[in-house]
Amino acid sequence: MDRMIGIIGGSGLYQIDGLEGASWVKVKTPWGKPSDEVLVGRLAGVAMAFLPRHGRGHVHSPSSVNHRANIDALKRLGCTDLVALSAVGSLREDYEPGHFVLVEQYIDRTFARETSFFGTGCVAHVGFSHPTCAPLSAQVAAAARAAGARLHEGATYLAMEGPQFSTLAESRLYRQWGADLIGMTGLPEAKLAREAELCYASLAMVTDFDCWHPSHGAVDVAQVVATMGRNAGLARDIVARLPALLGPTNPPCPQGCDRALDHAIMTAPAL
Ligand code: ADE
Repeated sequence: MDRMIGIIGGSGLYQIDGLEGASWVKVKTPWGKPSDEVLVGRLAGVAMAFLPRHGRGHVHSPSSVNHRANIDALKRLGCTDLVALSAVGSLREDYEPGHFVLVEQYIDRTFARETSFFGTGCVAHVGFSHPTCAPLSAQVAAAARAAGARLHEGATYLAMEGPQFSTLAESRLYRQWGADLIGMTGLPEAKLAREAELCYASLAMVTDFDCWHPSHGAVDVAQVVATMGRNAGLARDIVARLPALLGPTNPPCPQGCDRALDHAIMTAPAL
């Protein structure tokens, strides 16, 4: 099977460089409109699709991103792998602004989002104990190292609803829970990617220390945007290295991401 790498761009990443035959395409989905058109093209002989999560111009807030339409649009275009980039706050001393982090686990504190493609008519429960794809994450880690990024792996990401940042009490609580990063967009995106049987890796870019750190002030948007601005070139370099590392063909996922629905559907088939 041919590979197509889908890139979901976060705050500060609204395009990717060097795509051959690039064009923005409109994709219709039964879930409504995706955040924007999708930029499709080829890089190093591999099909690529890029979707800015918040739309060009940053017009969708974390709670209003239509994650179901976004994941469905990328699946319909033929994506086999998704690499999601996002700005995050750090809940640890050693994850500093400017560092890149691969997410391994999530804690879900969102409450106002559509989190599944399933429900009335067809009920399914996919396994989500290992929410990101380890083999794909390892390749993203290799790309990040080759690009010279300061990288951490194996992080736990706390997904909050927003749009306000956390209180000091919440930030301290999440650290006690063992969360390493905080962000507003990682879920339900990862859940929907699993339901869509897509390999999903999440590369987080640390922009701030949230508000818990005694020697740093509380986070604000200016800080997030400034750090993202300094890191956008590095993020684009990491993305540009992925096609050569992953290659044009897509073997079965060793972790089974591409077969996630095999034992997940409860509803009896229609007669
Ligand atoms: N995105 C970037 N920094 C963040 C923070 N501190 N909290 C939530 N989302 C963020």
